[in-house]
Amino acid sequence: MVEYYRGRRLRQSEQMRLLFSETAPLLRENLIMPYFVVETDDQSFEKEIGAMPGQYQLSLHKLEERVARAVDNGLHSVILFGVPAVKDEQASQAYAEHGIIQEAVRLLKNRFPKLFIITDVCLCEYMSHGHCGILAPDGVILNDPSLDILARTAVSHAQAGADMVAPSDMMDGRVAAIRTALDEAGFVMTPVMSYAAKYASAYYGPFRDAAESAPACGDRKTYQMNPANSREALREVFADLDEGADAIIVKPAGPYGDILRMVCENVDVHVCAYQVSGEYSLIRAAGINGWIDEERVMMESLLGLKRAGANSIITYFTETILARGLAR
Ligand code: PBG
Ligand code: ZN
Repeated sequence: MVEYYRGRRLRQSEQMRLLFSETAPLLRENLIMPYFVVETDDQSFEKEIGAMPGQYQLSLHKLEERVARAVDNGLHSVILFGVPAVKDEQASQAYAEHGIIQEAVRLLKNRFPKLFIITDVCLCEYMSHGHCGILAPDGVILNDPSLDILARTAVSHAQAGADMVAPSDMMDGRVAAIRTALDEAGFVMTPVMSYAAKYASAYYGPFRDAAESAPACGDRKTYQMNPANSREALREVFADLDEGADAIIVKPAGPYGDILRMVCENVDVHVCAYQVSGEYSLIRAAGINGWIDEERVMMESLLGLKRAGANSIITYFTETILARGLAR
């Protein structure tokens, strides 16, 4: 009688499947919820984002209400995006002392002292042209002049009380500029989690509606990475680590699972996977249409990121997962 491998031996019961799991279940503490905060006088402002059912643009007051509910359900961490009332060519509202993000951070920190608050550091939401850096008349995005503004923005977030800053602009040298500026301002203990491997992806489409940050002309291909490249992701990651990044983000997550896996196998720092707006919207759309079991697909999509090696996950599903008790 020939002995052979039978994969089914270890799959016979729920107890066995759990015992032989290679990947631990999701932890609430590893989930980060993104919020879009709008600068408005209308404190009842709460507008569902067309391309992201279940996600909202929120006034400060509505943000506070939503976060309060999520904190009751076990919310541990948030990442904040701002939609300013005024945009200009210098992104002046990105670093304004009373800008929308600075106010949001103060409000949340004051009301929920234990909530871990991450701010996205970028200029696109604050620029009239929607690019992540300064735009020259000839259409080129200027790298080095943008660094000062990014650094000022990060410092203003830290001054407002942000626990960690997450630069997402993909300008070269921004981590060093931000680290130096934070240190000079006395924030030596404020970590930087950089979007190190961030691709020029069509999966960000719904986000640009939510943050009102679509570039008015051109695209982001001269600063975000080429989706055809993988080894280059390691170069970007090591550059950011050399510049002082404490943790890094890979983005998008699911469609770039190969990148996530490769990065996790090659670095000795925390890796966060960002399941972006388009990934969320695809799952929601199919779910709303009844084409998939949305809850199972949602959980499976996140398990895939953990299996690839992600330590934490930024996902728009965080509130839902907490509300339904699907994470431990
Ligand atoms: C800002 C920023 C973007 C995202 C996170 N930070 C948009 C972009 O780069 O165009 C995308 C997040 C998402 O799609 O959920 N630069
Ligand atoms: Zn940007």
